[in-house]
Amino acid sequence: MGRRALRKVDPNLDLTRHFREAEDLLASFSRATLFECDAPLEVEVGSGKGLFLAQVSAENPGRNFLGSEIARKYARYAAARLAKQHSANAIVICGDALALFQRCFTDASLAAVHVYFPDPWWKKRHKKRRVMNEQFLRDVERTLVSGGRLHFWTDVEEYFQTTLALVRATVNLAGPLVVAEQPAEHDLDYRTHFERRTRKSELPVYRAEFEKRQTQR
Ligand SMILES: C[S@@+](CC[C@H](N)C(=O)[O-])C[C@H]1O[C@@H](n2cnc3c(N)ncnc32)[C@H](O)[C@@H]1O
Repeated sequence: MGRRALRKVDPNLDLTRHFREAEDLLASFSRATLFECDAPLEVEVGSGKGLFLAQVSAENPGRNFLGSEIARKYARYAAARLAKQHSANAIVICGDALALFQRCFTDASLAAVHVYFPDPWWKKRHKKRRVMNEQFLRDVERTLVSGGRLHFWTDVEEYFQTTLALVRATVNLAGPLVVAEQPAEHDLDYRTHFERRTRKSELPVYRAEFEKRQTQR
């Protein structure tokens, strides 16, 4: 599925609280400088237009949300959405999410990790570019708190099955836990824009959650 042209971000909108460059954070990452309050942190990989961040941050003021998006125009668009709703608990980092996991997030520091409709990289020679890879899964397992969840949704059945097998082979997360589809109650009542497009096209969405096991004492 292709993507429609993106609407321009209002140049008068102040994005300073909601948009940051990853390269400015990698050397000295500090959650305290990104959010107004300390709270459990959830991270989204590949935020696209930012629908998930906008909705969950408004619904969960007691949690912080960090979206990562490698494409600058989408990162700015998602940040603009947060700025318009004066979000105090969500931010978009422009850059490679995998580098953030490797270099910024400490052990047992994330309440949840969300990966929705990651680029499938169809060609065999490009599959190594997929974000759901062995190193990333190890970083997810390392950074989640006990009981924290990895949420993975896609419209590509092959990517789904390959990832389920990779999780089984690579990390010790419980799952896949079944995620039921919820009826949409209004036109934006979807987890993300890609979920909206997929369901409006009456195509299947494959959803799984995995939970970090409680550490043994
Ligand atoms: C297919 S889109 C899905 C966007 C959104 N999650 C949704 O469901 O509507 C995948 C997004 O992931 C972003 N992306 C791909 N690789 C990434 C990476 N390594 N770090 C951060 N974002 C990435 C792409 O730029 C793209 O916006």
